[in-house]
Amino acid sequence: MVARRKINKFTVATAAIIVLVFVSMLPARKKENKKQLSTGERFHHETTLTWRGVLGDVFGAKPKKPPQYKTYPGAEKVKLPKPEYRGVVLEDAIEQRRSVRNYSKKPISTAQLSQLLFAAQGVTGKTYGQPLRSAPSAGALYPFEIYVVANNVQDLPRGIYHYSVLDHALELVKAGDFRSKITDAGLEQEMLGDAAVTFVLSAIFDRVRHKYGERGFRYVYIEAGHISQNIYLQSVSLGLGSVCVGAFLDEKVNQLIDVDGRKEAAIYLHPVGAL
Ligand SMILES: Cc1cc2nc3c(=O)[nH]c(=O)nc-3n(C[C@H](O)[C@H](O)[C@H](O)COP(=O)(O)O)c2cc1C
Repeated sequence: MVARRKINKFTVATAAIIVLVFVSMLPARKKENKKQLSTGERFHHETTLTWRGVLGDVFGAKPKKPPQYKTYPGAEKVKLPKPEYRGVVLEDAIEQRRSVRNYSKKPISTAQLSQLLFAAQGVTGKTYGQPLRSAPSAGALYPFEIYVVANNVQDLPRGIYHYSVLDHALELVKAGDFRSKITDAGLEQEMLGDAAVTFVLSAIFDRVRHKYGERGFRYVYIEAGHISQNIYLQSVSLGLGSVCVGAFLDEKVNQLIDVDGRKEAAIYLHPVGAL
């Protein structure tokens, strides 16, 4: 019995050493001359996965996990109507989707806004008690926060609101008319101020970095696309127009939603307006 236990310990220790030696022999990443790489190429290269990188990510130092839900204690809260709209069939929505940059002056309703936010990040299920959302997320870590620059929504005063996912409500961040500020921050793309609402998709990087390390940045950008497509297709189904906007002055948008641009930063804008 004692001998067997010794052999088992010996076998496990030997196996562990073999694995460690093998892994240490794996290339971390193919050596590239950093000077020859552009910033974008370096980003891609340095977030490339290798087996050694995976193990490094498992054992390496990572940031602390930030809270899963951002809240604005004391903020004025606006409960959104239940998202129960049923519109065009998916295949028609895919066929009809186009980027729309001209909107009428008609407001959208709070029911339509509710449906758009639900499509973007609404809670649609649960696993082991943890809420799951409408768009996929690496490790179900949900790095995104959604801000609504409300320009022209029935029964909703103009202002910037934060979408509170768990109670499907809006929290008022700043009251006021931000149409010219969001247009200015978006390189004068007029649809940002003309739209009934402009969504700002903003990411808290450490929500994914604490698990996936630097690779997590890639997951954030990929995830923005999932959310964007949901907003596009939901807009079609509601008979509204939308376009995703990647060209904006980061610092100005970050200032508008009061985030530092490092731990949390605006990634994508999405105006939606009536036709
Ligand atoms: C990552 C990304 C960034 C984009 N940024 C902008 C933008 O800043 N302004 C804009 O008007 N359209 C923007 N678009 C929309 C594209 O111009 C549009 O999708 C493309 O012309 C194809 O047209 P469609 O969407 O109608 O099929 C962006 C699209 C993507 C995927």
